[in-house]
Amino acid sequence: MSIGSSPASLTVRAPAKVNLHLGVGAPRPDGFHPLDTVYQAIGIYDDVTVAAASEFRVIFETADYVDGLALPGRGENIVDRAAALIAGPDHPGADVRIRKGIPVAGGMAGGSADGAAALVALDRLWELETPDTRLLELAAELGSDVPFELIGGTAHGTGRGELVEQVADSGTWWWVVVTSTQGLSTPAVYRRWDELFPDASPTPLSGLAVLEAIASGNPLALARAMHNDLEAAAFDLRPDLERRVALGQSEGALRGMVTGSGPTCVFLCGSAEEAREVGGALRRSCSDAVLVTSGPVAGAHLVSSW
Ligand code: C5P
Repeated sequence: MSIGSSPASLTVRAPAKVNLHLGVGAPRPDGFHPLDTVYQAIGIYDDVTVAAASEFRVIFETADYVDGLALPGRGENIVDRAAALIAGPDHPGADVRIRKGIPVAGGMAGGSADGAAALVALDRLWELETPDTRLLELAAELGSDVPFELIGGTAHGTGRGELVEQVADSGTWWWVVVTSTQGLSTPAVYRRWDELFPDASPTPLSGLAVLEAIASGNPLALARAMHNDLEAAAFDLRPDLERRVALGQSEGALRGMVTGSGPTCVFLCGSAEEAREVGGALRRSCSDAVLVTSGPVAGAHLVSSW
């Protein structure tokens, strides 16, 4: 490793995800749930900037709608784990600055985005030249959504979500995203799902209908096919979310849904103009942040290096 010729500083950007389909099966012996999911990366981002330093230090800056108090404490961040995985427990130092645009505990893979971005950024900073296949394996060790955060776009996920295969997607899908000041814990939502559905099949519901809708490029077809098994558990823990989804649909969204384990609600719209209109209407009646964006976008990628 020749630190002398490595970049002084670089920034890697990673996107938020929505689950267009999330089929959940009964828990496996390891406690994780088998999934059949279709991910899409959308234009809300975390930027991870790393610079050479003697100590390893992680600091956060948050967008005004992101709850900074909900962030993990020193040494407990997924970025600390990413550093130890990619370069061993005695890894070199780095100053890591994370600018968070993705809500914390929002069901949009914000932590996973930071983990994926950190793997890519630290690999470059420390000139490790880790092969892509190894990066995907390390990502899967970091968390179920982290491999998707590396590949981005639209992808089919199986296993516990970590086995990802890119799906051809030439569409531009317009989304209104409504965040929630108070996050939901992913394990808590899965636990509630186990309580609500004790007789669930071990085989999750297939995302084939969503994959066909993506191939058709037709927003109405996608709206009809979208599905999230965890939505019932999220509604049970947070009844306000059910009202929010209904409100967005009554304001003209083709379909509203909780994404992942929630509490973020996403609304598919027919065009950019319709998304701006639905976003404007939701902004007038919600105190939480309302963002308008589109997908698919790229996974973790370098945006600057000097
Ligand atoms: O893999 P990740 O660290 O993101 O998972 C967080 C938690 O979510 C797990 O500890 C587990 O409680 C739950 N989970 C699950 N089944 C999955 C993915 C996550 O039960 N397929």
